[in-house]
Amino acid sequence: AAPLRLGLAGLGTVGTGVVKIVQSHADLIAARAGRPVAITAVSARSRGKNRGADLSAYAWEDDPVALATRPDVDVFVEVMGGHEGAAKDATEAALSAGKDVVTANKALLAHHGQALALAAEQAGRTIRFEAAVAGGIPVIKALTEGLAGNAMKRVMGVMNGTCNYILTRMQNAGLPYETVFEEARQLGYLEADPNLDVGGIDAGHKLSLLAAIAFGTKVSFDAVELEGIGSVSIDDINLAADMGYRIKLLGVAQMTGRGLEQRMTPCLVPADSPLGQLQGGTNMVVLEGDSVGQIVLRGPGAGEGPTASAVMGDVIDLARGFRLPCFGQPAATLATPVAAATSAP
Ligand code: HSE
Repeated sequence: AAPLRLGLAGLGTVGTGVVKIVQSHADLIAARAGRPVAITAVSARSRGKNRGADLSAYAWEDDPVALATRPDVDVFVEVMGGHEGAAKDATEAALSAGKDVVTANKALLAHHGQALALAAEQAGRTIRFEAAVAGGIPVIKALTEGLAGNAMKRVMGVMNGTCNYILTRMQNAGLPYETVFEEARQLGYLEADPNLDVGGIDAGHKLSLLAAIAFGTKVSFDAVELEGIGSVSIDDINLAADMGYRIKLLGVAQMTGRGLEQRMTPCLVPADSPLGQLQGGTNMVVLEGDSVGQIVLRGPGAGEGPTASAVMGDVIDLARGFRLPCFGQPAATLATPVAAATSAP
């Protein structure tokens, strides 16, 4: 069968991970997808850099828009990041040119997901974004496939590994926030703009995507009530521990009488609960459906292998011809304002 041809934009941690999986698992992927998956062209900010992967077989494009619209590209894989500028332009260009899109870009989708989903639908294409939420945990597939027969009651989770690292390290070592923040910076855990992590913004982006899928509302990052971890003190953590609790940056989305409520804020959780026991840079998502009850998913929320794993799951779905709508809902439902959403069952 004809190969599915990828145009890969971004050769940082995630892009390099995608190249490695495509190259090392070619036979396994072809067997599972029923056809080969091949990278035809790539783009990145700097061409010369040694990335520890052999890129010599791929065409090079300086401009991601040119990459996204190449006739020999079927799927545009966007792992550049950033929610304005190149990532947005290239994603729009890919959809207009009739390509499907696989992206790890939660900021782009949290801000522009609605418009992009509509553009995809009009083009008869889709955008898959498993890698954008909780890294290697297949939480979007869990919601859109395995749990598709449930009315979801609540979606919760720890979706920023850096914040969970900082909070658990403060607790375990008895160190103040500022000291652990500095450690995290030196370990390279923080985003270039650390406020994306500690301000709860990155986690809020992810929650807005999960909530839209789980509850069939439009993606609305602006509707997420946000509070970061910058004001959590070691005294708060110790006091909570004395009473049997841990403090987590917890996202919660649930239907209430006033519509879909989305909160990403520091919360008390019981120390002996799965969320309370979550250590270090790990993510956890708790899904509650009316039939299934509660499901807990735990795993790596970032890093080369885990994020590339999620990207490849989406790529292989597309190679199989499996093309879900972006947010699991027809466009008519996507357009319904959050405030008008119906109350919980
Ligand atoms: N800064 C993010 C985190 C990276 O710590 O979880 C993955 O989105």
